[in-house]
This record gives sequence, structure tokens and C-alpha cells, in this order.
Amino acid sequence: MRTQQTLGEVLASRGVSRRGFMKFCASTASLMALPPAMIPRIAAALENAKRPSVIWLPFQECTGCTESITRSHAPTLEGLIFDTISLDYQHTIMAAAGARAEEARHEAMKANFGEYILAVDGSIPMKDKAFSCIAGESNYDIFIEAVKGAKAIVAIGTCAAFGGIPMAKPNPTGAASVQDVLNEAGLQKPIINISGCPPIPTAITGVLAQYLTFGELPELDHLGRPKAFFGQNIHDRCYRRPFYERGEFAESFDDEGAKKGWCLYKLGCKGPVTYNACATIKWNNGAGFPIEGGHGCLGCAEPGFWDWGGFYRPLSQGDWGDWKTLGIAAAAGAALGIASVAVSRVKQARARQEKS
Ligand code: SF4
Ligand code: SF4
Ligand code: F3S
Repeated sequence: MRTQQTLGEVLASRGVSRRGFMKFCASTASLMALPPAMIPRIAAALENAKRPSVIWLPFQECTGCTESITRSHAPTLEGLIFDTISLDYQHTIMAAAGARAEEARHEAMKANFGEYILAVDGSIPMKDKAFSCIAGESNYDIFIEAVKGAKAIVAIGTCAAFGGIPMAKPNPTGAASVQDVLNEAGLQKPIINISGCPPIPTAITGVLAQYLTFGELPELDHLGRPKAFFGQNIHDRCYRRPFYERGEFAESFDDEGAKKGWCLYKLGCKGPVTYNACATIKWNNGAGFPIEGGHGCLGCAEPGFWDWGGFYRPLSQGDWGDWKTLGIAAAAGAALGIASVAVSRVKQARARQEKS
């Protein structure tokens, strides 16, 4: 735990050049969608910032979210852990194990009480709290203990943000999101939801870098997600959108339309109702995102995506009855509107073909 050092001191001790530091600030500004004029302000804030303690608790999860952050490229995981934050507990990737790891968690919580960021991935079982335990303690008890001294909570991944796959029907463990557990316990803490199954790694690291720079939480949408990464839907930034507009839809994954890269709406793409930055930031160091790989968006950043009524059925044929949140209800309305637009695009395209 070296949280007393400023980031500037840590970087200097590691031999990071001024040029390298300014490059880091420029990439942080770009992540936060800030103009280049803000780079000197970010540099000044970061140089003097004390590295915040981050305690990361993995609960009912598949380790995909942790895997995702190890693919982070701007900043890198190594940079994030060693230079930007003080990651004091993450039992999947930390060197310590067993009793020593649990001691490290308690020491960090005590030393940074009221100041640490609590990162959580995975949902929390509520039907029987013993369904998921670490070192003999239930996820619920560990979470409630850690919440008390946290300055803010970052719910990483759709499981932590909205319940995710563990909450899918019939939800045998009574899986609940971080917000639901807080509500049940009558506790209040600021929460940032970084949804996605898993989330884009740059969104995770970008939010932490933004907090470090400005000491405040980013602007959030109605589902508690940072607008910088979740402000637009996939459909509005999708490179296949011109095909959608022309009514050119793949009908199967191996037809001529699929080979020509046409829109995947009819193959169940949920891009029109899914808010995430996949189409712009992309994955694997900008290499691509699911739609570029020929598969529609599954809607993995939205609540209840697993129960939406079929990954391969068009949005217009989905079962909207189970959508619980206002946001999803609004999205469903939007999707139905998009569906009718899609149908009319097909009709227009057919009419054009018949005329020619
Ligand atoms: Fe795994 Fe997805 Fe849950 Fe992350 S959100 S823990 S990737 S199931
Ligand atoms: Fe892209 Fe899917 Fe929208 Fe088609 S429906 S344009 S594939 S996001
Ligand atoms: Fe998830 Fe859709 Fe992106 S499935 S990874 S939000 S393209």
C-alpha cells in the first residue's frame, strides 16, 4: 500500500519520461471525450494525485470481467495497478492467497476507511447467502462490511450492475445486483455501473482514471452508467448502418447478404437498444467488436439481456413482457419503432428492385 505517494512521484521513480506522461494524459483526455485543451489540467491533477486504494471484490462471477481488464490497453493493466491506483485486494490476480490475502483486505480497509474505491464484479446471492463464500464468509457479509468504508462503488460487469447471467430465469441463487443489495440493506453509496458481459476494459480503466483526475464521479445515465461510454447505442455508431438504411439484411449467417456484410437486424442484433461503446472504442486494442466478427450484438450491457426472448430473434419478435426497468421499457418502444422502420426499409428496397 503506497497510497501516500503522488502519481507524479511514482512515475518519476519508475523513470517515466515527461513525454510518456503527457501521452498518458492525452489518452486519458480522449477516453473522457475531453478537448485537447484539457490535457495540461489533467497532467497537473494527476501529478499531484494520491493513488486511491481500490479494493476489488469478485463475487458470483465467471472471471470474464477480470479477464477483460487484463486486456486493457489505455492505460495498461500494469500501468493501472502500479502507477494509477493502489489495487490492494483482488483475489484472482493478487500474489497473496488464503489468510494473507484476507489480512491484506482488512488492512487496506482500515488504513483507507472512508476513502477507498470498492470495485465489485459478479452478483450477490440472496436466496441463501451461503451459496457463494470466500474464506468462509458469505459474499453478502463481505460486501456489507466493505461498503461501510467505501467512498464510492464501481459495479464492474452486467452481473454486478444488473444481476446478469446469475439472475437469469429461474435465478436459483436469488442473485441480486450491487444496487439491489444496497437497497435491501438500507445503505446508500454512490455507484457507477460499468455494464457489459464483460465490460469494455477501457471503460473500466477510463472511469478510474477520470476519478483520479477530477476526484469526482463521471456524469451517469439513468441506469447509473458513465455517459462517456454508454451515451450512445451500438446501432447509431455501427458501420453496417448504411445497409440497414438501404433495407439490406442478412437472412442467415452464411447467405450472400452475410458475406457482403449487410445488417444483422433480422439475425437478432440488439444494437438498436444497447448502449455501449463497442462500435467506437472496440475490443482487443481496437481490433474489432462482435458485429465486425459477423455476429449481432446480444445486448450484453443492458439489464435482463439473457431473458430478452432469444439472441437470434429480431427485436420486433422479442418478449418484452419481462423488461422491468423504465430504461428498458423505453428501449423496447424504440426497438418496436426501429422494427417498423426496418420493415418499411425492406419494402422500399423491394419496390426499388421491382421498378428496375
Ligand atoms: Fe462473467 Fe459477464 Fe458476469 Fe462479467 S458480467 S462476471 S463476464 S458473466
Ligand atoms: Fe449494426 Fe445491428 Fe444496427 Fe444492423 S441492427 S446497423 S448490425 S447495430
Ligand atoms: Fe456486448 Fe453488444 Fe458490445 S453484445 S460486447 S454490447 S456489441
